Amino acid sequence: MSHVVTILPDGARFPVRPGETLLAAARRYGFAYRVGCREGGCGACKLELVSGELVYSKTVAESVLSDQEHARGICLPCRAVPVTDVVIRLDATDRLRRGPFSDRLAKRDLNKADRLDVPAESELSDSNNVPAAKLS
Ligand code: FES
Repeated sequence: MSHVVTILPDGARFPVRPGETLLAAARRYGFAYRVGCREGGCGACKLELVSGELVYSKTVAESVLSDQEHARGICLPCRAVPVTDVVIRLDATDRLRRGPFSDRLAKRDLNKADRLDVPAESELSDSNNVPAAKLS
């Protein structure tokens, strides 16, 4: 089964495909928020990981995401790939924008994912994956 992303404080929910980043999944459904380079190089997309577990399939520079931020549950959605259901929180100064069909498409795919039993971890067994954070 694919993993589910929840974005607080709005409560928007959508499934993420195996190996897909948080940002890519959000954009696929038309959800948008403050981002920059989309390549892990600027840190503009930093969000709080409230719960769940992420990995980074590509290296993230210490200058972009420090170990202290990592420990506090800060993540880079443009590079972070969920390996469990995750909850992330937008910065208080940020706002989640939606496309006209974002919630409807996400709900349709969440319902579809409930009926499928596709193991998401199978495509994440690459040894290059680096644990990003695990919060509960
Ligand atoms: S958008 Fe630049 S690091 Fe994520």
